[in-house]
Amino acid sequence: MTTIIANGTVISTTGAEPADVLIDGEKIVALIQPGSELALSAAAGAETVIDATGKYVLPGGVDCHTHLEMPVGDIWTADTFETGTRAAAWGGTTTVIDFATQMAGEQVRACLDARFAEAEGNCAIDYGFHMVLGDVTGDSLKEMDALVDEGISSFKLFMAYPDRLLSDDRQLLLAMQQAAGNGAMIMMHAENGIAIDLLAEQAIERGETDPINHGYVRRPELEAEATHRAIQLAAVGACPLYIVHLSSSHALEQVAWARAKGANVFAETCPQYLYLNLEDHLGLPDFGGAGYVCSTPLRTKHEHHHADLWHGLRQNDLSVVSTDHCPFCLNDKAAGADDFRAIPNGIGGIEHRMDLLYQGVVQGEISLPRWVELCATTPARMFGLYPQKGVLAPGSDADVVVYDPAATWTISADTHHMALDYSAFEGFEMQGGVSTVLSRGRVIIDGGTYHGSPGDGRYLRRGLSSYLL
Ligand code: URP
Ligand code: ZN
Ligand code: ZN
Repeated sequence: MTTIIANGTVISTTGAEPADVLIDGEKIVALIQPGSELALSAAAGAETVIDATGKYVLPGGVDCHTHLEMPVGDIWTADTFETGTRAAAWGGTTTVIDFATQMAGEQVRACLDARFAEAEGNCAIDYGFHMVLGDVTGDSLKEMDALVDEGISSFKLFMAYPDRLLSDDRQLLLAMQQAAGNGAMIMMHAENGIAIDLLAEQAIERGETDPINHGYVRRPELEAEATHRAIQLAAVGACPLYIVHLSSSHALEQVAWARAKGANVFAETCPQYLYLNLEDHLGLPDFGGAGYVCSTPLRTKHEHHHADLWHGLRQNDLSVVSTDHCPFCLNDKAAGADDFRAIPNGIGGIEHRMDLLYQGVVQGEISLPRWVELCATTPARMFGLYPQKGVLAPGSDADVVVYDPAATWTISADTHHMALDYSAFEGFEMQGGVSTVLSRGRVIIDGGTYHGSPGDGRYLRRGLSSYLL
């Protein structure tokens, strides 16, 4: 089946050019000059012609940090693989990389197999996994090598959550040394969880139980300290390091310092850290802040975290924007009504990442090519999916978004497609929006209708990162 996306402006990391995109089956076969003889004959022979006049044409988004169908104790994230990947597609994301998690005492292999079974046949778009090592043991270190061979080429470790997931420095270094040998990327949740838990305990003793205290005790200094320690351990372990959900100027300074020295240190941020803050959101009265509890936390508006993060995105000290989509419904957040420590951590946003970042283009914070680089090309390169994903080029998967810069709309839980009963971005007025989405050559979103089905998405065996310095 051949498709041509005609008369649009193709956005890549190197610029914005008029081009027609010719697709055969699941792959892109050519980018052709619009109006040329070749373009006219391709259009005449194509089974499907999508008119992209006045629109941008870009590679499908790659969201490399999501938590679909994930339990925290007895509470599960609201989006299943089916609902979450469908919502992602609505927002122009055509690849997600989620996590398989090994908790202390569990076998890596068994946890991964269970995760494969949960996703299989349910995803609307292509998907991969990182592996969370909740316990670094002889078994998990040995399994790391096997997993890299099977397309799981990145491992998340935690410096937070002492009672559940924290690895001590010895464990961190062991995993890093193993990654140095097998080429994997170490992803780090960089917060000093031991210090944070002490501050949280002291806050509760003082009767400070509201959600805003989650933000007060998870101090930016403790994100910076852990980020610095992770950077130094990775230097000793000689592996590449990727800091997840970076939220503060303090931590960004550490990443910029490491990168200025030429270290293979990378970081992502998420839309919530660019647009939301501690006082106006986490500090909402009557437990309203619970919907904004996530870790790392939202930061104070009285410092310059937002401006610094945008600057980091321009400078490439922040190379990726993911969502850390971790949606819990409000009745689940109520578990922490008397103690902010019991509020399940996470914000949902898988559907709105591309649009929220596009507002950065509208506001002059980033360029159009940088938007595509942050949301599609770099995450694909960072996690071994390039050039299959993240680029419109001959031979790449035909994951394509047709984006209308003239669209205007408002984010609302009443109209979003996530299985989440609120939106952290409720009422945000958006300029620009997704018109059409193709996943491996098939139109899955068009004219406000979803045309895909669960099981369309395939598991992606990832290679090693092609982004290293
Ligand atoms: O609050 C968050 N980010 N929850 C998801 C788990 C994690 O640490 O990424
Ligand atoms: Zn984390
Ligand atoms: Zn996360």
